Amino acid sequence: MTNGITITRTTTAKPKPKDSDLAFGTEFTDHMFLMDYEEGKGWKDARIEPYGPLSLDPATAVLHYAQSMFEGLKAFRGQDGKIRLFRPQKHVARLNRTAQLLCIPTIDPDVVLKSWTTLVDLDREWVPRMVGTSLYIRPTLIASEPFLGVRPAKQYLYFVILSPVGAYYPEGLNPVKIMVVDKYVRAVPGGLGEAKASANYAASLYAAEEAKHEGFTQVLWLDGVHRKHIEEVGTMNIMFRIADEVVTPPLHGTILAGVTRDSVLALAREWGLRVSEREISIDEVMDGAKQGTLQEVWGTGTAAVISPVGELAYKGQRVVVNGGRIGELTQKFYDTIVGVQYGTTPDTRGWMLEI
Ligand code: COI
Repeated sequence: MTNGITITRTTTAKPKPKDSDLAFGTEFTDHMFLMDYEEGKGWKDARIEPYGPLSLDPATAVLHYAQSMFEGLKAFRGQDGKIRLFRPQKHVARLNRTAQLLCIPTIDPDVVLKSWTTLVDLDREWVPRMVGTSLYIRPTLIASEPFLGVRPAKQYLYFVILSPVGAYYPEGLNPVKIMVVDKYVRAVPGGLGEAKASANYAASLYAAEEAKHEGFTQVLWLDGVHRKHIEEVGTMNIMFRIADEVVTPPLHGTILAGVTRDSVLALAREWGLRVSEREISIDEVMDGAKQGTLQEVWGTGTAAVISPVGELAYKGQRVVVNGGRIGELTQKFYDTIVGVQYGTTPDTRGWMLEI
């Protein structure tokens, strides 16, 4: 028992992949964390067990009504050999915010943090060493009550799995091509857009497949009402440098409050750049490209880190950004954030938590 968590260790440790072979989310470590909720009893039975399949009754509510959510954060092995989590408290707060929106009972923030630190500590040999690789932490909450009525469930399962990962996009730090869609929408005001609800990702698949068939890496969503204002990319938030202003859509309930987004904005403000969290229309972006004021476009996300955008397509028009190369500011954000994560740039903001 550690930190009130019962630990059952595996007797059949798996072979670890080579750092240079790591993709995203295909390998999993030796252990997982689990905890149950029951109405009237609260969250209970915190435990770490060997990684393995879950057994669910076919009537389990999550399988029918998608009362399901997740988080995503990373542990890094610094160049000094120490293991650190990037801004875990922000992820804890977002986990509980999403839980509220999905009528899932929230979890004591200290318990959530301990579930991550204890599991990563146990599987610490799985944290890869190469810069660009990390251990991705995937906390998940699902309704586990076997019941077919439509209402918030009375039983839940919280589990955490770990995956050693490389770059999310096969492009790595090479610019990605993005398709702006106005035929489909991801979220509407008053909906679940700001939640890390599994359903938001299901809603994004159809458009993403269409974009992929046309040679694009991802979809850029517009607002669900006017189909005019920029929202997000679904696996990352989006930012623009237009006439030396850093612009990104505001957190008004339909986009995810990205932790990397927040970190980049903090850096930009610290560096004295002009920063605006404001509505930005797709027309402003396309006009900026035509007039030469659109200097850089990049995405921010835990999985994607900082991902330069080299091409945007909208209504049959294609614009190349910065000659299809990573921009100077995009590179500076990437270098600074990655430097802090791997301990080569001083962590002056208290972003890293050592395990
Ligand atoms: C993340 O960046 O952590 C995400 O959740 C995006 C995606 C892998 C679903």
